Amino acid sequence: MTILVTGGRGKIARAVSAGLTAAGLDVCVASREPADLPGAIALDPTDPVSLAAALKDVSQLFLYADPSSATSYAEAAEAAGVKQVVLLSSLSSHADNGKAAADPHAQTERAFATASYATTFLQPGTFMTNAIYWSYAVRATGQIRLPYLDAEEAPIHEQDIADVAVQVLLDGPGAEHDGKHYPMTGPESMTRRHQIELITELTGVPIEAVDLTPDQARVEMASTMRNPAQFESLMSYWASRIGSPHPIEPTVELLTAHPGRTFRTWLADHPGLF
Ligand SMILES: NC(=O)c1ccc[n+]([C@@H]2O[C@H](COP(=O)([O-])OP(=O)(O)OC[C@H]3O[C@@H](n4cnc5c(N)ncnc54)[C@H](OP(=O)(O)O)[C@@H]3O)[C@@H](O)[C@H]2O)c1
Repeated sequence: MTILVTGGRGKIARAVSAGLTAAGLDVCVASREPADLPGAIALDPTDPVSLAAALKDVSQLFLYADPSSATSYAEAAEAAGVKQVVLLSSLSSHADNGKAAADPHAQTERAFATASYATTFLQPGTFMTNAIYWSYAVRATGQIRLPYLDAEEAPIHEQDIADVAVQVLLDGPGAEHDGKHYPMTGPESMTRRHQIELITELTGVPIEAVDLTPDQARVEMASTMRNPAQFESLMSYWASRIGSPHPIEPTVELLTAHPGRTFRTWLADHPGLF
């Protein structure tokens, strides 16, 4: 039986499919735009025929969170006899600011609430890969412009998220992961100002860190955010984390038996980015 990895062009999906393939499993990669991915199949989650075809003979599914296609995936997985779904959700679905119910990751999780197959929701916080977007700005302007530069976060390496997903899929349905929500962070709390200082320290590239006011951020960043409500929720969250070290979740170490990779490691893993 096959493991279907959706969102094939995504950074996490690429690392998950590489890990499963290296472990010798039968992996099928699906993407809405498979042209750039040798061997990948096309999957349009809005098309029931495409979904049913992609899920034929699939026993396990790795999925990105998207409320617009969540119910279609949940029902198609049921109809296809899928045994396990591992969903890439977010720590934001755990938010205790009263806004979690509207969070798109939480909405996606709810679509799987009545599934008869095993589900595991991976809930990582801030990704280290967000610094890839910073690198575009540094190359263009020499600046990183963000609100709440002194907010604490515990960014997580994409390989650690993938390692956890691979372990859950390797262990399979019926193991201890069934029905679990796994909050996940990197191994250390740090401000984004400190991350920017580390980038300069390790790469030698000078960077001007510009601390935007919330209103400046709304103007400069809102156009890149697909969901304005989610952006406002993020702003409140960042405001709440100033001077408040981010709790460290032990999930990566517990499930993979290796410590979470640090931001220094991430920078070494992405040479030439800045
Ligand atoms: N950035 C953060 O700090 C952070 C924190 C927590 C959670 N997250 C979540 O992590 C995910 C981003 O992961 P990433 O870094 O691997 O993403 P990425 O490299 O930016 O790629 C996103 C991928 O999502 C797939 N996708 C989008 N909508 C989809 C849909 N309706 N059906 C199937 N696939 C869909 C696309 O795959 P194809 O086009 O190939 O089909 C795309 O390649 C998002 O869901 C985000 O909300 C991010």
